[in-house]
Amino acid sequence: MITQTSYTVEPWVLRERGLHPDVLPQSESVFALSNGHIGWRGNLDEGEPHGLPGSYLNGVHELHPLPYAEAGYGYPESGQTVINITNGKIIRLLVDDEPFDLRYGRLRSHERVLDLRAGTLTRTCEWTSPAGITVRVRSTRLVSFTQRAIAAVAYEVEAVDGPARVVVQSELVANEQLPGRNGDPRAAVVLESPLEAEEQFAKDGRLRLVHRTRRSGLRVGAAADHLVSGPDPTTTESEATEHLARLTIASALEPGERLRVEKFVSYGWSGTRSLPAISDQVDAALAAATSVGWSGLLAEQRGHLDDFWARSDVEIDGDEQIQQAVRFALFHVLQAGARAEQRAIPAKGLTGSGYDGHAFWDTEMFVLPLLTYTSPGAVAEALRWRQNTLPAARERAVQLGLRGAAFPWRTIDGSEGSAYWPAGTAAFHVNADIADAVVRYTSATGDEHFERDTGVELLVETARLWRSLGHHDHHGTFHIDGVTGPDEYSAVADDNTYTNLMARANLLAAVDAVERHPRRAAELGVDEEESAAWRDAAEAMHLPYNDELGVHEQHAGFTRYQRWDFASTRPDQYPLLLHFPYFDLYRKQVVKQADLVLAMYTCSPHFDAEHKARNFAYYEPLTVRDSSLSACCQAVIAAETGHLRLAYDYLHEAALMDLQDLEHNTRDGLHIASLAGTWMALVAGFGGMRHHGERIAFAPRLPEQFGRLAFTLELRGCRLRVEIGRTAATYTLLGGGPLTIHHHGEPLTLDAEKAHTRDIPPVKPRPAPDQPLHRRPNHRPGKDG
Ligand code: BGC
Repeated sequence: MITQTSYTVEPWVLRERGLHPDVLPQSESVFALSNGHIGWRGNLDEGEPHGLPGSYLNGVHELHPLPYAEAGYGYPESGQTVINITNGKIIRLLVDDEPFDLRYGRLRSHERVLDLRAGTLTRTCEWTSPAGITVRVRSTRLVSFTQRAIAAVAYEVEAVDGPARVVVQSELVANEQLPGRNGDPRAAVVLESPLEAEEQFAKDGRLRLVHRTRRSGLRVGAAADHLVSGPDPTTTESEATEHLARLTIASALEPGERLRVEKFVSYGWSGTRSLPAISDQVDAALAAATSVGWSGLLAEQRGHLDDFWARSDVEIDGDEQIQQAVRFALFHVLQAGARAEQRAIPAKGLTGSGYDGHAFWDTEMFVLPLLTYTSPGAVAEALRWRQNTLPAARERAVQLGLRGAAFPWRTIDGSEGSAYWPAGTAAFHVNADIADAVVRYTSATGDEHFERDTGVELLVETARLWRSLGHHDHHGTFHIDGVTGPDEYSAVADDNTYTNLMARANLLAAVDAVERHPRRAAELGVDEEESAAWRDAAEAMHLPYNDELGVHEQHAGFTRYQRWDFASTRPDQYPLLLHFPYFDLYRKQVVKQADLVLAMYTCSPHFDAEHKARNFAYYEPLTVRDSSLSACCQAVIAAETGHLRLAYDYLHEAALMDLQDLEHNTRDGLHIASLAGTWMALVAGFGGMRHHGERIAFAPRLPEQFGRLAFTLELRGCRLRVEIGRTAATYTLLGGGPLTIHHHGEPLTLDAEKAHTRDIPPVKPRPAPDQPLHRRPNHRPGKDG
């Protein structure tokens, strides 16, 4: 076996040379292909060896009872988990009498390449069977961005130095056996054989299997069609049983001869459509794919990605690793969100079953900001998904004795999937995060249609929640008590500053929206009294502050708690949640992930520069980054407060989270929020971009290691190009306009095609903040040490 554990650094591809079984589970996530609807993990064509076989269809899940030792009122009874659906990737190969299995024989070469411009995963290998027959195998697969129901594989086997009798079995396999759960609560519940067979078909290379999930009652169809070319005689045979449909192709190859199989796979699912309707749907999708053929699908894929890169690429001079990592990140965020179309964008995208395939606030606060300025259509779709789940969110609010909508902390189908109240439903901030995404999208695009049909309703229902969740005390001050903010090492706390600031913005945005859309507001039953109550609550919102220390409190009383004993905590005791009881984490000053620090980014205008610096210096030594969502947020504020070197280290951590498996759980799926956070660290961190209300501002400053940073944004029908050098930044509108922006506080009105260059003011030096012992980010080698 050839061993190799990392990827080469190249600007537009991710290349793995050799194959190492130990990193297979992780590389399956890294090489996953998806369009937001279908997800195929980067499993080897022949299915084995594997870390975790994975084929997913966005929204397809199974329900399972949530057992509680001590149940309580309002605990969700049923959990949802993503399931591994019919595997259409499998192409097995028999060389003479030996299965092509890399654990046997001799692997002479093996290479996998994820091409970020072509949108394909290509694998090339040369293998000698235990009997001494050498074959070359080359396969390319794609999950189509343009034909949402389609994935495809082109598979070629060639005899190298002697004749080879080869048999290729191209399959659809349901209910694959999965490895068991590994004890990590962040992994998925494994459900045995979740699919019940409803229909199977196989004829002349056309295959189809239709199944149904037992409890959630979802019907899942998968179909395949093939184009085979090989030397005469090449024979084929099709067959299907309950959970397996197979095309078997047999051929005898002389040295240099090839057998080529093009496999087109279509998927469809529904909770309501009938069996014949699903069968027809997958057949029809196949017909559309085969009519353009393999080369047509490749060309469409490239075209789609050319457009994406033209509006989204980020260029960096001076750091090739980050250059590759940010493109890898952009590609995977596109894959997660591009065609999700009114379905959730899960925390792992469709790259693995971690977190049971649930979507969290990660979507609105990490993924959607990137998509807002690069693929805005996908944002509208993601928020329409939230709107479609309003009935469940309203029902949940009623159950909790609240008004409006209580969106779930984690979910697939819109109902609450968290069995743990303190780090689940109590994290009410998800409601304000959704509102924030609505406001950002509408302001960035000016999409009035969306605002009227979707935005207003989301803003109104979330504002109602805040008004009923909080209360005015006898001084009139508004408090939101008993909630969990982003930092999950503090729970059920009073007046979490992030939550209160975000809720305030949510309430004010709802007031604005109903004023702009009185008819829609009336339909939603909003009257003047109600919107006045929202305004009053927002204006009287309590924001806890410690006068003595001159810092904002993460929540009321937080700065009074005992500090966590970092000196006695061993490096192997991180993440703390796996080694210490929650009760102890909750009552100490220790921060899992950016919370107050995140508030300083998302609610930036509320904090002046001095407070940002002081708060950052206070919370840095408490923040352990036990969540992958933290480093990117810390990068943004580190950059803003002038700690460019630290920001650069955090950027690396966010960017390499999966490429270097920093949290040791990339096998369960990619950390999509951290990938999106790479963009955030660059654009909001070193680009200093802030978008609040109608104001779009930049305060660029590069770290020593970068010679140049350039990015493109879609804003109000314009395409804005920002080029940042070491001493000056240039803003150019590539289309549309005029557009007013700010550069380090100075307003600039941009017109199409004219470049505006402005100097970058020097950074104000400050003492570097400290981090908890053993939790400093890796210090990257660089010019300044
Ligand atoms: C984080 C949450 C996040 C979830 C899914 C948790 O570890 O604390 O903020 O939403 O992971 O990514």
